[in-house]
Amino acid sequence: MDIRKDFLSLAVPDIGEDEINEVVDALKSGWISVGPKVKKFEEEFAKYHNVKHAVANANCTTALFISAKVLGIKKDDYVIVPTITWQSTANIVEQLDAIPLFTDVEKDTMNINLEDVEAYIKKYGSKIKAIIPVHISGLPVNIDWFTEISNKYGIPIIYDAAHAVFSSYKEKMVGQFGEMSCFSFYATKNITTGDGGMITTNNDELAEQCRIWSYHGLPKDSWKRYSAENASPHVQSIVPGYKFNLTDLQAALGLAQLKRKEKFIGIRNELIGYYNTLLKDLDYLETPVFETSSGKWGNHVYVIKFLDNDINRDKFMLELRKFNIGTNLHFYPVHKNIYYQKKYPNINLPNAEWLMDRILTLPLCTKYSQLDLEYVTDAIQYIYENNLAVK
Ligand SMILES: Cc1ncc(COP(=O)(O)O)c(C=O)c1O
Repeated sequence: MDIRKDFLSLAVPDIGEDEINEVVDALKSGWISVGPKVKKFEEEFAKYHNVKHAVANANCTTALFISAKVLGIKKDDYVIVPTITWQSTANIVEQLDAIPLFTDVEKDTMNINLEDVEAYIKKYGSKIKAIIPVHISGLPVNIDWFTEISNKYGIPIIYDAAHAVFSSYKEKMVGQFGEMSCFSFYATKNITTGDGGMITTNNDELAEQCRIWSYHGLPKDSWKRYSAENASPHVQSIVPGYKFNLTDLQAALGLAQLKRKEKFIGIRNELIGYYNTLLKDLDYLETPVFETSSGKWGNHVYVIKFLDNDINRDKFMLELRKFNIGTNLHFYPVHKNIYYQKKYPNINLPNAEWLMDRILTLPLCTKYSQLDLEYVTDAIQYIYENNLAVK
């Protein structure tokens, strides 16, 4: 099989004239840090998710941190998190000196295992101060179930919606649910601002607190002190806040990307459908779940699972790299990371541990064509048929 000349990375951002024009507009306006474009991006995002408030953040990690902080998560509190996620979901719990309770995930959807959540609630009761379910790959978790649990036990839910900008649950965008939802606009995400994040909530008080804690602990709209508006000269910290704001340069990208969302969704779904067609007859792997009866647009990353026990997944990744194909893992279980393994050595989560040597994320983004996908699937088949990645 011929090897392509250029490297097909996992994903590249889709930046066009609209994004360039918006950024140039920000540059020319004089507002390059937090200013009117951040405000507009927040408004547009809130409108898209049909939620009362959207608070822009430096990234999804800071958004998760701030959300947990304003809920009062503190030393020795328990917070339930799934182990299949990006480290941030658990890291922010550790940063607040709280204790993450890792759950397993479903083997098929890779979303949080509800039985484990229930078992923890039975065991630790009111010591549990929050649950952070993750909409993995944008596939919504069982939100009705979490709403019921939250109401029954008074445990707030922060949704890690890093992958779920386009996702809906029972025809409603996911940003409307829970105490808060946190989104990521990292370079590989469905819409990007380079780095960036957003907290959505319908709760006025939580929104206000998120805003204050994300921006030096200053009162709301303090950025207007640099504008012609008659803002108060007293910008004094109410709390010892963080500097976790988005900038207008980033928001400019976000505004342009948000305008192109329908196009992005269309291309992603077409490419995912094509991968499914190309891979459906290969019995040594399983294709991802992208829709459940209640949630859809799990279209952020395309994660296959190797079913053949003789395949060495890490070797497979290296072989694909020889074909100039970049892949990734979404995700290696967090409890297996060096820090967590040392601190919590006795965790046993069988589905996650079954998945961890079998998952592989294939290249997917709106810049790729069906030909790119054919190249990837041909390479997979070549490596498998020639036993290049066996244990
Ligand atoms: C599930 C999940 N949560 C949180 C994050 C953190 O997002 P960010 O890079 O915007 O901080 C990521 C990033 O990839 C993620 O995948």
